Amino acid sequence: MSGVNYSERIPNNVGLSDDRRLKRALEHWQPKFLDWWKEMGPVETLNHDVYLRTAVSVEAGGWAHFDFVKMPDYRWGIFLEPREPERKIGFGAHKGEPAWQDVPGEYRGTLRRIIVTQGDTEPASVEQQRHLGLTCPSLYDLRNLFQVNVEEGRHLWAMVYLLHAHFGRDGREEAESLLVRRSGDRDNPRILGAFNEATPDWLSFFMFTFFTDRDGKFQLCALAESGFDPLARTCRFMLTEEAHHMFVGETGIRRVIQRTCEAMREHKTDDPAVLRALGVIDLPTVQRYLNFHFAVTLDLFGAETSSNAATFFTSGIKGRFQEEKLIDDHVLLGADYPILDVRDGKLVPGIAPAVNALNERLRDDFIRDTDAGMARWNRIVKGYGVGFEFRTPHKAFCRKIGAFAGLHVSPEGEAVSPEQWNARARQFLPSDEDRAYVHSLMGRVVEPGKFANWIAPPGKGIEGQPLEFEYVRFN
Ligand SMILES: [Fe+2]
Ligand SMILES: [Fe+2]
Repeated sequence: MSGVNYSERIPNNVGLSDDRRLKRALEHWQPKFLDWWKEMGPVETLNHDVYLRTAVSVEAGGWAHFDFVKMPDYRWGIFLEPREPERKIGFGAHKGEPAWQDVPGEYRGTLRRIIVTQGDTEPASVEQQRHLGLTCPSLYDLRNLFQVNVEEGRHLWAMVYLLHAHFGRDGREEAESLLVRRSGDRDNPRILGAFNEATPDWLSFFMFTFFTDRDGKFQLCALAESGFDPLARTCRFMLTEEAHHMFVGETGIRRVIQRTCEAMREHKTDDPAVLRALGVIDLPTVQRYLNFHFAVTLDLFGAETSSNAATFFTSGIKGRFQEEKLIDDHVLLGADYPILDVRDGKLVPGIAPAVNALNERLRDDFIRDTDAGMARWNRIVKGYGVGFEFRTPHKAFCRKIGAFAGLHVSPEGEAVSPEQWNARARQFLPSDEDRAYVHSLMGRVVEPGKFANWIAPPGKGIEGQPLEFEYVRFN
């Protein structure tokens, strides 16, 4: 089961050839997916040969094969982690029962909605990133962008497989709609807010892959615990791909910081105007981009307390991050979780029933993970002897969803008046001027081994290839 069958039109390890109806339905969806890719995938790239990795097995370690591929010929397929025959549901009211191989009737609507919402983010990010190739800082980065894009396409396949295999006609209709909504479209937008924001430049792209793909990681981790076994298994495999997306973000920002710190040291200055004249991105601007992407991504976790979240957990559909490793009863009846409340416009510590606070708990897990990344960036800064520290803003900063929506909270967590906020917004969030400056840096560097001035080269190439390797060949 772990080997992938590539002799079929749709590569898979789910025995698709044994289910002719399902196979036919997916083969019917496949050309529509390709049409979507050609229309909404990376612009002007259909003939490029890109050094991509393709999944050939779901075994840890040896799953990927690297070679030149034209993106429309990428072997998008359906790969689930192997089934554990004895797997039991690990939490909620069904704890200890065998994991479901089919959708329980009473949870059909809820599961479908979760799968559609997850699935919708995948093509959305491809749409958001489709123009970035035109301004890539190097061939290495261009290839990484395309790798992320094709894998998001595959994540769409992962969700569409579940919809087709387990949700009948409704599922097929949802699968069609996933190709019809468009990121940022006024009439038919993608489902979640962050996936309708533009990704206009590479700094935004690296922030997106660092923060928003990391939201993806946490959502997938929670769904990887699901009592619905096919969902759990597909999410586990998606997580191996997601790790690369976050790598692209973390190392991308690290290289930006590194380049700026080099310039700061060489020219003995921390003056943003001087640094901008040198063509690098001053660290306060990086911090403002970070603030924006952090806040937008926190909203993706939903409201602090949520009866939906409680239902998902109690029903056995969506667990907590690393549920299996947590030491408690995995049912959470009578348990509490600390949250922040808003009283008279002020933030005060509060407490909520743990089952209702699961969004908040997942958000806190996410924040811990981003803090670790931040600490790694700060080590780079310190290594250059530069006196600057990146900080994750307060969780109530600039939120549009949940208890803090509509409040004005500084990145330090201080509730301020709208007037104070407006006076200081330029310190908190990227201004039009910041965005215009970053935009002005976005040239296109495609000579092998060359990198744009605003970003340092990476430590090493891809899959043992040198930095001068021609990662993308234009045809
Ligand atoms: Fe994804
Ligand atoms: Fe991703």
